[in-house]
Amino acid sequence: MSKAHFGLVGLGVMGENLVLNAERNGFSSVVYNRTYSKTEAFLNGRGASKAISGAVDLQEFVNKLERPRRILMMVKAGSATDAVIQQISPFLEEGDLLIDGGNSLFSDTERRVKELESKSFGYIGMGVSGGSKGALEGPSMMPGGTKASYDAIESLLTKMAAQVEDGPCVTYIGPGGSGHFVKTVHNGIEYGIEQILAEAYDLMKRICGMNCDDIAKVFAFWNSSEELSSYLVEITEICLKTKDPEDGSDLVEKIMDKAGQKGTGLWTVVSALQLGASVPTIYASLNARVMSSMKFQREKGQTILGLTSFSTFDLGSISDGMEPIMDAVVLSTIASYAQGMEALRLASKEYDYNLKMPSIAQIWKGGCIIRSTLLKRIQDAYNLDPQLPNLLIDPWFAEQVVRRLPGLTRVVAAAAQAGIPVPCFTSTLDYINSYRTSRLPQNLVQAMRDCFGSHTYERIDKEGSFHTDWVK
Ligand code: 6PG
Repeated sequence: MSKAHFGLVGLGVMGENLVLNAERNGFSSVVYNRTYSKTEAFLNGRGASKAISGAVDLQEFVNKLERPRRILMMVKAGSATDAVIQQISPFLEEGDLLIDGGNSLFSDTERRVKELESKSFGYIGMGVSGGSKGALEGPSMMPGGTKASYDAIESLLTKMAAQVEDGPCVTYIGPGGSGHFVKTVHNGIEYGIEQILAEAYDLMKRICGMNCDDIAKVFAFWNSSEELSSYLVEITEICLKTKDPEDGSDLVEKIMDKAGQKGTGLWTVVSALQLGASVPTIYASLNARVMSSMKFQREKGQTILGLTSFSTFDLGSISDGMEPIMDAVVLSTIASYAQGMEALRLASKEYDYNLKMPSIAQIWKGGCIIRSTLLKRIQDAYNLDPQLPNLLIDPWFAEQVVRRLPGLTRVVAAAAQAGIPVPCFTSTLDYINSYRTSRLPQNLVQAMRDCFGSHTYERIDKEGSFHTDWVK
C-alpha cells in the first residue's frame, strides 16, 4: 500500500477541516486522534470515500506516512502540544517535520524549534486563521521555523491556503516562533476590531435609539465602503439580523454580555509593552472583555453608582452610514492595525525575525478573521516605505486621520456625556492626539522622578543628564 503524503494529529473541527482541505488538494492523508472512536467516526463520516486513512496508535500513524514525514498537530496549545511531541518523537526519523497549527505562545514555539531541530527533526510553528470554514475552504497561514522546513511544506500550504489576487495567503514568516508571534498579533487586532464594532452597535442602540435591523443596515453600508469592507463587519451585520427561533426577537439581545478569551489578546498586549510598542486600542479591547466578565460587580455598581440618564445626540443617519460613528470605527480600526504592525516591526528587530511587512499584509488579505480591503492599503504603505514607523503617517492613512478626527472626537464626547463606555474609541482618540503632539507633559513626570528619586532628566536646550535639588 502506498504511503500517505500528510499526517494530522487531533481531530477537532479545525483538524478535520484542514485534513479535508489537504486531501482535496491532492495530498493523501492519515489521521490520528487520542480517542480512536473519534477517528472511526470521522472516517465513516466526513472522511469517507476519500484518500484518508486512520491509525490506532502513533506507531501505526508514523509508519503510514511517506518520508520525510509531514505531520500537522492540531491540539490544544500548552502542555497538550508538548505531550504529543513527546509521545511521537520516538517514532520519528531524521528530516521528519512536525507542524504546530494551534494558537501556541510564541516563546513555547521558540523552545520547541530549538529542541526538535537539535534532534534533526524539522519544526514549524504555524498560525492558522479563518475559523472552521477557513480551514476547510482556505485559511491564511503564518508558518515560522527554519526556511528548509518551510520549503518541505510549501507546495502543500500554498495549495491549501486562501487565494487573493496576488497569490496564496501563506508565506514563510521567519525563524523560531515568528509564525506564532505574527498570529498572536493578528488576534490582538481581531480583539480590537471586534470591540470597536461592539462599541458602534452600543452607541447606535443607546444614543440613537436604533433597533438591530436598522443597525444591521448601517453595517451593510459600511461593508460596501473601501475603508470598512471586511469579514468582521460582514458577520456583524449577519449577527444583528439573526432572530431567536424561539420567539423571533433579536438573538444578540439574548446573549450574556460577558466575553471570554483564550490568551492571544493578552499575549499581544504583554509582548507589545515589553517591546516598547504602544497598543492602547488593542489593550482597551482586552480590558473591555475583562470588565465584561465582572457581570455581578457591574450589576451592583449600576445600583450603587447609578446610570447616567442618556441624552440623545445627532450622530448621523442610516443613509449616510452614521457618518461620525463611521469615522470613529474607521480610525479605531486603522489604529488597531497600526498598533499591531508596530508590535511586529519592533519584534522583528528584537528577535531578528526579519519580518516582511508587505507580505504579512498580503497573507492577511484573504482567509483570515481580520481580512479587509484596508489591508491592500497597508500592503501598499509598506511597499512604499518598508521602514515606515507608523501607518498613521503614510499619506493615504494620514488623509483618513485628518478627515475623520472631528467625527471620532464628536463620538467620544457624546459617549462621555451619555455615560456610555467606548474604550477603543477613547483610546484611539488619545493615541492619535498623543501621536500628533510634539510636546507632551512628560517633562513634568521627569521632574517628579528626579525630585523624589534623583532619576535625572534631559533638557531641551543643552546636551547631558541633569539633576536638581528640588526640595531645598
Ligand atoms: C482565527 C482566530 C482563532 C482564535 C479565536 C479565539 O484567526 O481563526 O483568531 O484562531 O483562536 O478567535 O480567540 P478568543 O477566544 O481568544 O477570542
